[in-house]
Order: sequence, then structure tokens, then C-alpha cells
Amino acid sequence: MTFTLPSEHESRILIQGVEIALGFPDEFNFKWIGQQDVMDQLLASWLVIDKDDIPLNPRLIGKPGVGKTTLAYAAAKRLNKQVYIFQCTMDTRPEDLLITPVVDTSGGIRYVASALVTAMIRGGVCILDEANRMSEKSWASLAPLLDTRRYIESIVAGLKVSAHPEFRICVTMNDDSSTFEIPEYIHSRLQPQIYLDFPEAEEEKRILRENLPFIDQYIVDYVITFLQKAHMNNENYTIRDGINIARYAAKRLKFFNGNKTHIDSLLRQAIVMTLGEEASSHLV
Ligand SMILES: Nc1ncnc2c1ncn2[C@@H]1O[C@H](COP(=O)(O)OP(=O)(O)OP(=O)(O)O)[C@@H](O)[C@H]1O
Ligand SMILES: [Mg+2]
Repeated sequence: MTFTLPSEHESRILIQGVEIALGFPDEFNFKWIGQQDVMDQLLASWLVIDKDDIPLNPRLIGKPGVGKTTLAYAAAKRLNKQVYIFQCTMDTRPEDLLITPVVDTSGGIRYVASALVTAMIRGGVCILDEANRMSEKSWASLAPLLDTRRYIESIVAGLKVSAHPEFRICVTMNDDSSTFEIPEYIHSRLQPQIYLDFPEAEEEKRILRENLPFIDQYIVDYVITFLQKAHMNNENYTIRDGINIARYAAKRLKFFNGNKTHIDSLLRQAIVMTLGEEASSHLV
């Protein structure tokens, strides 16, 4: 099957005579700090080492807020690739994942490619984010894409679309329980499994400092001390929690015209209002 690769800004493409509208890449300023091993594992799984080889479809697994989406995005950017994030939910239908028909202004049908299919056509990276929220029906539509066939079949548009050789995919999954069971034949197509854990204390400091350069150093240091004390007590508060606490405390400080007289009290309130009353036992 052949198709012409559209330029970065072209938003339509003809495949087997059917016009498909393409999406746009996601642009964020996400940087990955520390934990080089998981970055290397992800990049290695995307390598193609022979003309008969194909990339693997890695799965990033870890608690909410440990950095799965950030890692996948930053890895794709290291390869100078466009990134297309598809946010999976329990309501995601196969056509949402692939190609959706929409009625245009003249009453005709237009076909719109998802983030995934756009990445497949443009040779970008698709991050299927929080993919374990999807039902088996949606996963089934991805089976041929995730094995040596590397294509999808859109029933609604009556098309088969092959992935560009440069296309890569990565799936992120929370290891919480609010999800469907993923069928075994899909499990076996989403390898390797890359586990993300909480960063070391020194890395956590760097991540918070580099994510919050605009926030008063006193606030950032306070939050770092709090998070580390909580970790020592086996509390799994994440970097995201830390970032939210620091942001909220900084906003409160601004609201009080930067008057630092009550800064410790603002920080304690920000912690309890972010994480609940139980967090107060780890207060600095
Ligand atoms: N190693 C890291 N380098 C840079 N930023 C990080 C790192 N780890 C976590 N963060 C920051 O922590 C926050 C949460 O990260 P992210 O959204 O990637 O987590 P997640 O594992 O995808 O969470 P969820 O499961 O809820 O989607 C982000 O603001 C991100 O920038
Ligand atoms: Mg995420």
C-alpha cells in the first residue's frame, strides 16, 4: 500500500481515494530530569536494528503522577519526532481511536483521523495515554497495528492504513484498579513493560526546582522537605502533588501581595488543601 507523506502543515490526505483530515501534533515544554535508565529502555525499544526489524510497542507503568506521560513525550522529542497524545477513557470507541465520520457544513461526510492515525501517517510518535481505561472492543481494533502487520482497518471509512516506517507508539498505564482487564493477546503486543518508580531524593529536588523556576525558593524547599519526610513515612505523594502545593502556596502569597509573614501557615494550608487532613502528620 502506498501513500504520499503530507507536509507538516498539510491537514488533509487522500488514502485509497478517500480524503482524511489529519490532526496536529502536541507541543509542550516537557523535559525529563534524572532516571536515565527508563529513558534508555524506552529509546532502545523504539530502535530498528535491521531492515527486517520493527520497533517494539513499550508500555510505561506506574502510579499516577510519577512521570509516565512526561517521559514518553520527552523521549519522542529526543528523536526529534512530532508527538500526538491520545487520551484514552472508558468511553473511547474504536472509531475514536482510528477515523471518525463527521457531518460537514454542506451535509456531506468528512473523515477525521485521530491523533493515533495522524501519527501513523506522518511518521510521528503516538502516546496512548492512560490506555488501561479502554475497553476490549477498542483494544481489538489495534491488534494488527501492534504486531508485524503495522496497519489499522477503519470500518467507518472502509480503509486500511499502514503505519509509516518512522511511526512509534508508547502506551502509558496507571497501576491502580480503576480500569478494565486488558486481554492477553493485547498484553503480548505491548512489550516491553517499563516500570516507573518515585525518583531519588536528589532527583526529586531537581525536578521540582526545574519545573517551578518562577516560584519563591523558600516555598520550593519547604515542599521538598515535606515530600521527603512523607516518603520516609511510606506516603506515596507524587511530584505532581508537590508541584500543586507549591503553585497554590505561591498564588496565596501573591494574593497577599508577597507578604511573607504568614508563609509557613500558607504552606501548611496548601498541603492540607491539596492532600487532605491526613497529610498534616508529615508537616515540616
Ligand atoms: N523525571 C521527571 N522529569 C521532569 N518532570 C517530571 C519528572 N517526573 C515527574 N515530573 C513532573 O511531574 C508531573 C506529573 O508527571 P506526569 O503527568 O508525566 O505523570 P503521569 O505518570 O503521566 O501521571 P498520570 O498517571 O496521572 O497521568 C509533571 O508536572 C511532570 O513535569
Ligand atoms: Mg499521564
